[in-house]
Amino acid sequence: MQKIVILTGAGISAESGLGTFRDEDGLWVRHRIEDVATPEGFARDPQLVHGFYNARRAQASEARPNPAHQALARLQQSAPGEVVIVTQNVDSLHEAAGARGVLHMHGRLSGALCATCGHRWPAPAKMQPEDACPACGARATRPDVVWFGEIPHHMDEIWQHLDAADLFAAIGTSGQVYPAAAFGQEAARAGAHTVQLNLDPADNARDFAEHRHGPASKIVPAWVEEILGA
Ligand code: OAD
Repeated sequence: MQKIVILTGAGISAESGLGTFRDEDGLWVRHRIEDVATPEGFARDPQLVHGFYNARRAQASEARPNPAHQALARLQQSAPGEVVIVTQNVDSLHEAAGARGVLHMHGRLSGALCATCGHRWPAPAKMQPEDACPACGARATRPDVVWFGEIPHHMDEIWQHLDAADLFAAIGTSGQVYPAAAFGQEAARAGAHTVQLNLDPADNARDFAEHRHGPASKIVPAWVEEILGA
């Protein structure tokens, strides 16, 4: 029974109406990473950073999973082996489609984190700098997302999955942000077949044995049907 490990990025949620980062009109074209996605930016202007994530949380709460999220949940439920989904996305669209055990390496918009004591709890719709941590009372609450300069979550577990994978797929990710950009290379080194499914060739395309280009809502369901039908 084969073990399948899947990495997803912003491209899989694009057709659900959530913007990507680096495409034309992407989030990083309209906002400076240093201002809204670093611990230093948060220390400088927590109101601005909370405002940015409050807007993204509101947008994500309106979004619905698209056929690509649904196909991956179907693969997880129907494939005879293990299917592990790792995502860089902070939305919850994989879960909304029925996927289980998704490893959110960059955290989630639905979570709040106390920068003082590390306590985690469900984020309210709007977070603000004055909010107190329900555990220690510190007014240092932040979105439970990973910023540049911070270590992504679940990394030990993810490397172990990659080293044991028979098939690794990267879906809707530009291959520009590490460590996720190195997963294809690692899985190939460990012996997995690697496939990249993206609108266009990503920066790390050479690390993949197979490529499929097109919108995720079309190419992901087709790929999943092939695997389930094989
Ligand atoms: P990017 O915005 O860098 O890349 C999105 C990729 O998806 C691009 O290669 C697009 O061509 C592709 N794409 C766009 N629409 C698509 C569609 N409908 N179907 C298939 N592919 C499509 O987003 P990520 O690679 O996810 O991290 O970005 C990685 C990390 O950088 C994010 O998690 C975030 C960001 O900075 C942090 O904030 C820490």
